[in-house]
Amino acid sequence: MKQKKQIRVGMVGYRLMGRAHSHAYRDVPFYFDLDAVPVLQVIVGRDEEGVKAAADKMGWASWETDWRRLIERDDIDLIDIVTPNNTHAEIAIAAAEAGKHVFCEKPLAFSLDQAKRMLEAVNKAGVTHMICHNYRFSPAVQFAKKLIEEGRLGKIYHIRATFLQDWLMDPHFPLTWRLRKEISGGGTLGDLGAHIIDLARFLVGEFCEVVGMMETFIKKRPFGSMTENLKGRIESDQWGEVTVDDATAFLARFKNGALGTFESSRFCKGNRAGNRFEINGEKGSLRWDMENLNQLQVYLGDDEPGSQGFRTIHCTEEEHPYAGAYWPAGHSIGYEHTFINIVSELMNGISKGYSPQPNFEDGVKNQAVLEAVEQSVKTRSWVSVSQEIHVRS
Ligand SMILES: NC(=O)c1ccc[n+]([C@@H]2O[C@H](COP(=O)([O-])OP(=O)(O)OC[C@H]3O[C@@H](n4cnc5c(N)ncnc54)[C@H](O)[C@@H]3O)[C@@H](O)[C@H]2O)c1
Repeated sequence: MKQKKQIRVGMVGYRLMGRAHSHAYRDVPFYFDLDAVPVLQVIVGRDEEGVKAAADKMGWASWETDWRRLIERDDIDLIDIVTPNNTHAEIAIAAAEAGKHVFCEKPLAFSLDQAKRMLEAVNKAGVTHMICHNYRFSPAVQFAKKLIEEGRLGKIYHIRATFLQDWLMDPHFPLTWRLRKEISGGGTLGDLGAHIIDLARFLVGEFCEVVGMMETFIKKRPFGSMTENLKGRIESDQWGEVTVDDATAFLARFKNGALGTFESSRFCKGNRAGNRFEINGEKGSLRWDMENLNQLQVYLGDDEPGSQGFRTIHCTEEEHPYAGAYWPAGHSIGYEHTFINIVSELMNGISKGYSPQPNFEDGVKNQAVLEAVEQSVKTRSWVSVSQEIHVRS
């Protein structure tokens, strides 16, 4: 039997995304026949007790309290960054310079310039790199991509995408890192908007120009943190200023002539994870909703008159990308499988020596859209999305 390459992972951070990534590393060899398999080698957190407990619960072989130890250790092949956004660039650049592959959560960086420096570092080091835009890896989204690429929708005219949540509506919800610009770099735009921008780039194409608006509905909150399930924990009687957007909406033109409307908000009562899109082409339309992530609604204009209408395809058949790795048709998969699927591509990339998409180049292009929307809000005008990736390779 062929010996599988062992990819020893060092992961920085251990909470919400730490759990999702740990689970994916553990499960990926169960479902996919890979040449390279992850080894849960070291997990990093600043709080010794917390990181020890996380290592035990999630099955990591060892733990450290400073991510710099991962850079020094020669028993680490891949560094996985699941920490707040202000830490991504420093860790990713140090990892690449030490010759380690890098998997980084979104948004890639704080700014376009920082994202470009990250891309430059991974290119220079020749390591495999990916950014965790996991929603691309739902079989229904992959099937949407297949239908679009096959021309079943014809020319694309519209994408209408939202990512709506409601966990922040209580005025006493604490001022967590997500609401502080110096740590998060941005609010709903960078957190939720980055995902729908990625889906639009994946399914429709590159952005050309944008115009947006933003609002912060609740300007001050008590200091505190949040649990892995997006529940607040007030930790002080001091209040501080919210320095990011609670909601952002923007319009976009794509290079291929399509029009887009995008909305990200944490103030949409009843919407827990309203990550949805509708795409309209000259021959048909598609609709997807993360809360029913196995389903794709498909309307094809060449269906017989009288029988036309949106049909619901349960994307659990072998014909639907990644679905065949799991259960018999009709047996649903969930949120965690989007991470298993993306990690299977990461393992393929490392064993074959390339960077599967979405990689840091996609992270830079995504960041260019985020930056253009912010600029447009400041200047109250349309802004072109930077198309150039000026990095040395
Ligand atoms: N792909 C997705 O769907 C998705 C979903 C949620 C969050 N994210 C992204 O994942 C990242 C982490 O978000 P989260 O929700 O897991 O946050 P979280 O607050 O739940 O966890 C952050 C972790 O980072 C640790 N940490 C913070 N600073 C650190 C440092 N300097 N050194 C070591 N550890 C440090 C914290 O202790 C904690 O373990 C963010 O970039 C976020 O945008 C992605």
